[in-house]
Amino acid sequence: SEEEKQEFLNSILTIDFNQVEKLYESSKEEKDFSNAKIEPIDFVDKSKLKKEDSKKYESIGESKIKEGKLAVVTMAGGQGTRLGHDGPKGTFDIGLDSHKSLFELLCDSLKEEGKKYGVTIPWFIMTSRENNKATIEFFEKHKYFGYQKDKNLFFFIQGELPMMDTEGKILIGEDGLVKLAADGHGGIYEALVKNKMVDKMKELGVEWVFIGGVDNCLVKMVDPVLMGIAIDKGVTVACKSVVKANPYEKVGVFCRRNGKPNVIEYSEITEEMAEAVDENGELLYGESHILCNLFNVKAIERMGANPLPYHVAYKKAKYIDKDGNLVVPDSPNAYKFEAFLFDAFGKVDDMAILRVKREEEFAPVKNSDSADVDCPRTARKLYKQFHHLD
Ligand code: UTP
Repeated sequence: SEEEKQEFLNSILTIDFNQVEKLYESSKEEKDFSNAKIEPIDFVDKSKLKKEDSKKYESIGESKIKEGKLAVVTMAGGQGTRLGHDGPKGTFDIGLDSHKSLFELLCDSLKEEGKKYGVTIPWFIMTSRENNKATIEFFEKHKYFGYQKDKNLFFFIQGELPMMDTEGKILIGEDGLVKLAADGHGGIYEALVKNKMVDKMKELGVEWVFIGGVDNCLVKMVDPVLMGIAIDKGVTVACKSVVKANPYEKVGVFCRRNGKPNVIEYSEITEEMAEAVDENGELLYGESHILCNLFNVKAIERMGANPLPYHVAYKKAKYIDKDGNLVVPDSPNAYKFEAFLFDAFGKVDDMAILRVKREEEFAPVKNSDSADVDCPRTARKLYKQFHHLD
């Protein structure tokens, strides 16, 4: 129809073709990391802190939380392709007796912490265009789990980029419009700034923001020790880590890259580096990034000012071909471009890293049960153990 044609033209007009060309070129580049100087980075082990240090950090963080200076952001814009759940990942029920969704488990923890400190912790949820409606409907159906939309609960939509085929041609999606895909969790900074969520945070008097994923059902979003360390160290970013399960676990690890804090991905690390140990036999690059990050609002603004580099993923994507037929591929056929949250770490000179215990803070739901790792079954077991539910 005329209307559909107009909509299609409008969707073309939103494309930045220079950017698309650069993205396509980058899909052909061989990544060369040999010039980067990679070194281990310092961290603090929470379980080995001296009692007086632990108390000191805790009291610094606690007073800020009680003053209402902390907000939480949950990144829930991902497609959750590995899990394969029909609906936003946050709506997934991991199979507890309560049948609570990931969103509700996170919300329970926020409410409990808020009660402890006598505040309501503002909660910001990043969705994608694809799952925004379903996410908000889910919250509405559950009466926002006791939170109040637009007062202490805010939804915002992350950015998108066109998907293209191996020849660099932009795909058309099933809806007849340009096929767009969420721009990765690294889109968080730009999305917070562009959607004026940072302004909202400032209005609320927020100074520190915990940013985490939706798929870790043990995520500890309110942690006075983490905040206390950041403030005491005078840094604007503090992250949590857990020890890598073994040298070959497929996780990104913290490091210094050309002197700046960074995360080196498992695909980048050499065997020699992965296996290297210090004098105590601990892995030199053993601190896994678990997407638990605390930022000062100023750091978010700085990171959101310029886009991050994009990484290319080769994925399966349905599209409409030039004859108007829907093509459903059974193997990857399209490039998707994603920014990674940790690529922004290099914008600060220093950050704090706090090693926490895996069994206390990390129960990810990435895969379906058939994978038997980071799946609902393993997450449920960890959740039950931690909360003494058995
Ligand atoms: P993952 O990288 O595990 O991606 O996201 P995913 O979308 O959940 O799952 P797969 O890779 O398709 O199987 C880690 C966290 O970052 C969020 C996810 O929602 C999850 O909480 N994320 C990821 C976004 O918010 N936006 C994105 O574009 C990508």
